[in-house]
Amino acid sequence: MKGSVVRVGVLGCGNVGAALVTLIGERAEAIEVRTGLSLEVTRVAVRNLTRERAVKLPEGVLTHDAAEVVNDPDVDVIVEVMGGVEPARGLLLDALKAGKPVVTANKELLANFGVELFAAAEDGGVDLLFEAAVAGAIPLIRPLRESLAGERIRRVTGIVNGTTNFILTRMSTMGASYGDALTEAQTLGYAERDPTADVEGYDAGAKAAIIATVAFGAQVVAGDVYHEGISGVSSEDIAFAHRLGYEIKLLAVAEQGDDGRIGVRVHPAMVPVTHPLATVRDSFNAVFVEGDSVGELMLYGRGAGGMPTASAVLGDLIDAAGNLRKKTFASLGHLGRAEICPIDEMRGQYYLNTEVSDRPGVLHEVSGVFARHDVSIQSMEQEGLGDKARLIFITHDASEASMQATLHDLRELDVVRAVTSMMRVIGA
Ligand code: HSE
Repeated sequence: MKGSVVRVGVLGCGNVGAALVTLIGERAEAIEVRTGLSLEVTRVAVRNLTRERAVKLPEGVLTHDAAEVVNDPDVDVIVEVMGGVEPARGLLLDALKAGKPVVTANKELLANFGVELFAAAEDGGVDLLFEAAVAGAIPLIRPLRESLAGERIRRVTGIVNGTTNFILTRMSTMGASYGDALTEAQTLGYAERDPTADVEGYDAGAKAAIIATVAFGAQVVAGDVYHEGISGVSSEDIAFAHRLGYEIKLLAVAEQGDDGRIGVRVHPAMVPVTHPLATVRDSFNAVFVEGDSVGELMLYGRGAGGMPTASAVLGDLIDAAGNLRKKTFASLGHLGRAEICPIDEMRGQYYLNTEVSDRPGVLHEVSGVFARHDVSIQSMEQEGLGDKARLIFITHDASEASMQATLHDLRELDVVRAVTSMMRVIGA
């Protein structure tokens, strides 16, 4: 680092990398006026040197050797926007060990190997900043680690996957089927050709692990997260949700009970239409934080896309450069291993939709199963008559284990033709 010039090495020049280089060029003067820092992109590592890119880089800046960028004495700070676990993990560990601050947008890496990287940053006394790894442009990690550092956070509930929120919004507002909404998401470039990571909740799960780590100051990894995706959500579920006053959303939930245990899960949930998260549409993300003193907060914005994500990376980069100049760093503190609350022990409200026979005594038999497992019914209504009869329940708080046992026993009853869906209710 020479004077106020901070030399930046960028690993990866795809959508986000190219947007970042453009943004640094456009905002350089304003950043220097505001912070006294002059950001200079000196090296950029790419997989393919000959590919046409959205940004022009001077001769000598591009290389296909990422290690060369990390080890270059003319690089002060490393920005990693290449994605994937390896080689990113090894490269970032090398950078941190060499005392170079790192800014990364890599949720997969942090959710699986964050513990090792945070320790390396702590040992080296350098920044490892990752605002862009969760909910793209939304400032979330910094508010959690700084503004809310003294807060007793109870729960963080997020819509952190734009693809699935787009699909559910299309199903909810246009009456689209899951398949048609997914195809549209693929055509618009939101969903990958293999959409598994988004629609089955893996992407949101990685983000939930990172949120839990920062919110509760304990090591939570992707493997700790219970997840269910949205591929089983039907148009019928959405129609019933509307009739009862709910929207269906894919939620990432991280919560800490009074016993200190952390529950972390991703699943579709029914959210009352009056809850702020129910109003989050299309590919937008939002994160709802509940804490003892702060009450309720919601942060909303773009969760993906080149420029929005690059904006979050740039904010981190300016912080890391400023900290380097001041010879300080942002510490996550000591991260002990989290004690995870298994899904069976988590408590919440449930929605249950059953197809039943329509004759005297059926409700008595069905409600007897709920009672046997200590599940209290908050509301029940019958829809349709004869062969089309259904009973639709919303329960009071119950444990997941009790609900699963109720579900099992209901399926054994002769009077229950099918349990067509069971979904958690959040925010009621
Ligand atoms: N695929 C993610 C989404 C963005 O749909 O929100 C990257 O995490």
